[in-house]
Amino acid sequence: MSRPKVMFVVGTRPDAIKSAPVVAEFLRHSEVVETVLISTGQHKEMLTQALAAFGLTPDADLGVMTHGQTLAGVTQKILAGLDEQIAAHQPDMVFAQGDTTTTFVAGLASFYRQIPFAHVEAGLRTESIWNPFPEEFNRRAVGLFAKLHFAPTEWSAKNLLRENVDPASVFVTGNTGIDAVKHTAQIHKKSWYENWAGRIVLLTTHRRENWGAPQEQIARAALRLVETHPDTKLVVAMHRNPDVRATLTGILSGHERIDLIEPPDYADFVKLMQRANLILTDSGGVQEEAPSFGVPVLVLRTTTERPEGVDAGTAKLIGTDEEVVFFEGNRLLSDPASHAEMAKAVSPYGDGLASSRIRYITLRSLGIETDEVSMWA
Ligand code: UD1
Repeated sequence: MSRPKVMFVVGTRPDAIKSAPVVAEFLRHSEVVETVLISTGQHKEMLTQALAAFGLTPDADLGVMTHGQTLAGVTQKILAGLDEQIAAHQPDMVFAQGDTTTTFVAGLASFYRQIPFAHVEAGLRTESIWNPFPEEFNRRAVGLFAKLHFAPTEWSAKNLLRENVDPASVFVTGNTGIDAVKHTAQIHKKSWYENWAGRIVLLTTHRRENWGAPQEQIARAALRLVETHPDTKLVVAMHRNPDVRATLTGILSGHERIDLIEPPDYADFVKLMQRANLILTDSGGVQEEAPSFGVPVLVLRTTTERPEGVDAGTAKLIGTDEEVVFFEGNRLLSDPASHAEMAKAVSPYGDGLASSRIRYITLRSLGIETDEVSMWA
């Protein structure tokens, strides 16, 4: 009997991390389904690193990354390359996760070829199509034609229903990023800063809306936090983007309690989050992962498509104003009660079983019954 074929498309670090557990789950069922993994190469070092953390190697890599790449440049190269891959492999379904340019173009390429598209991490929304840019557009666009929408939470499922998406195509699965983080935290043994008895503040910032002046304000506030609290070290996990690096190193390099580090590989980063006492970030994925470890997160953005952490009290949306970032950070570092209140280990984003639900629902939609899974209550 010929097996149906599914194609996963990844291109950036978050695509790799959040797709990896799903790809692994399909590969475990290779007797009933064939799985192809295509990398667009929108990211280079950061993608290879993320895939390697899960022992995955793409079947093809379009290698599109260039330094200073524009959105239009990346889009056109990915579209041409993926169209060829889809034509060559003739998949029964194409998968992509989240809201990156890779995700949007994977959707577009499968739409043009009229191949069903499955969207992992569907239904996240902010109020503004411009924020985050261009991610809000990317995820809304693929939501228009996806055949299967895997919503991580009830809230994201409701967003889709409000947009008149067919309810029979929407499934609440939990976020696959929680599958990834739980799996990794269990198997990886590395520890950070064993010889440092003090506290760690972890900073990551890369978002386009924050390039330039907002990132300068973030960096200045972070510097003031370290200077105010001599028992803290600031660890900055820098993105590869050269402009982001220039801003951060300009303000933060040369201080004895500030470590500007290369992007750690995923498994190391998970351990670093576990070691941190406070996380300042504009990343979506980090907002989801940190609550699993009970680490308070200050979100350096004015909007979030992930309100569940804010509602649960483990994350706070604070924007990028230097005074506000310093004030909020300083409060958590000075007042144990405020810190304890946010440090509640709840994970509103998933229970670690999202990938098996996605596999089960997909195979059933392709006419294959496999071992059933419990749905997320
Ligand atoms: C992309 C995604 C964003 C995601 C982020 C995670 C889009 C539009 N944005 O943003 O949603 O949160 O990835 O990191 O899809 N670079 C390297 N090596 C790498 C990766 C990047 O040198 O491995 C440099 C290149 O100079 C590149 C720049 O970083 O031009 C920016 O990369 P790009 O993919 O354009 O956008 P990100 O800001 O990474």
